[in-house]
Amino acid sequence: MAKDLLKDIVALCKRRGFIFPGSEIYGGLANTWDYGPMGAELKNNVKREWWKYFIQARPDMVGLDSSILMHPKTWIASGHVEGFSDPLVECLACKKRFRGDQLLEEQVKISAVGMGLPEIGKTIKEKGVKCPECGHDKLAEPKKFNLMFSTQMGAVEGESLTVYLRPETAQGIFVNFNNVLNSTRIKLPFGIGQTGKSFRNEITPKQFIFRTREFEQMEIEYFVKPGTEDASFQEWVEYSKNWFFQLGIQPKNLAMREHDPKELAFYSKRTVDLEYRFPWGFGELVGIASRTDYDLKQHNLYAEEKLEYQDQITNEKFIPYVIEPSFGVDRAVLTFLLEAYQEEKLEERTRTVLKLHPRLAPVKIGIFALKRNAPELIEISSSLFRDFCPLWNVQLDNSGNIGKAYSRQDEIGTPFCVTVDFQTLSDKTVTVRSRDSMQQERISLDQIKNYFRENLD
Ligand code: GAP
Repeated sequence: MAKDLLKDIVALCKRRGFIFPGSEIYGGLANTWDYGPMGAELKNNVKREWWKYFIQARPDMVGLDSSILMHPKTWIASGHVEGFSDPLVECLACKKRFRGDQLLEEQVKISAVGMGLPEIGKTIKEKGVKCPECGHDKLAEPKKFNLMFSTQMGAVEGESLTVYLRPETAQGIFVNFNNVLNSTRIKLPFGIGQTGKSFRNEITPKQFIFRTREFEQMEIEYFVKPGTEDASFQEWVEYSKNWFFQLGIQPKNLAMREHDPKELAFYSKRTVDLEYRFPWGFGELVGIASRTDYDLKQHNLYAEEKLEYQDQITNEKFIPYVIEPSFGVDRAVLTFLLEAYQEEKLEERTRTVLKLHPRLAPVKIGIFALKRNAPELIEISSSLFRDFCPLWNVQLDNSGNIGKAYSRQDEIGTPFCVTVDFQTLSDKTVTVRSRDSMQQERISLDQIKNYFRENLD
């Protein structure tokens, strides 16, 4: 049942232009996905809502858009060159590669948290773990596999520089700490947020857009005075949860998971994951970490500038602590799709509907003329379309098949549909149908913009 839900979502995403398999005309490139017309709107809406809530609405926050390619020393300082790896296990028979920790969790329900490579290898042997692909039990010893993609920068052969595609957007924020301080009047506590692509050469990308090698993040580094980080951490956990709740995620589907000390990332004093109830079980949606002064201090060891804060009243200089709420855009998109997807049994059929929050819905209003060959109706529906276009993303459908038009709009989550019919010609009203209740009401043309301003914005 739960597995089918993901299958249904994947099918709907392809059918209605949300998400397509990547490079399909060349037979596809495994685990890459392209956002189609509806998906691009949904994803942009998710990012816009995040930006409004976390940056625009807060006087203590500013935004940034840093580059994907960064000086390679960044990743030495951050610890990623040395420590950002997964235990790779290769099957000696079929040559497929897996994550050793995942094999233990999936096949023998043993958590590999805190285990080193030799212990993972020993447990795999002792417990008789098999290759999930061919069933062979000849698995190689686990190896450290760095997840960063590297590439060459520069046109001159032999003189090019090896650089990495960033595995997180966070470091772009840390390296710009001085730039932001010097160019704004912001004072502690303050945060810098940004959205953007990140890349990780995941050994086992899976579950649609949940785990991919190219993905997008929405990250905040919130700088605080040392000693105040615990209270700030708690505030960010609550504030982050509420973002999902106000956009329609039910509290029963969101859980908090405190990381065990053995599991903490090398930079973290405390981490809480916000997990969503995905069809295969609860999984990480957001990671909120208390990163102490780790990153700024590390950059101070390698960089040519010192990253620190000077209190303007006491003149005291110190390195702030950091709280980092880190969201995955694609996981948020998947979460909103899963939460919104419903199949409702009506008298004669089952309707598939995406009950997306109106602010997330790709299309806000569908506009129809009741009959295809009625020029007066088509003139009014087309003129409404032209009027609404600058205000909302709207779709015009003058095919005259209202039943089909409703179904199409329900499947992409359009909150309202407007039908221009013959009554419109006499009393200048149109039918407005609400997606969730399927109730219809008549609204006069001179009130229609106000109606949508109240219900959409
Ligand atoms: N800067 C901290 C950081 O990157 P993370 O827990 O590794 O922390 C944060 O990643 C979020 O990024 C995750 O909660 C998840 O939503 C998203 N994410 C991480 N790896 C991903 C992947 N391979 N595919 C899709 N989203 C991913």
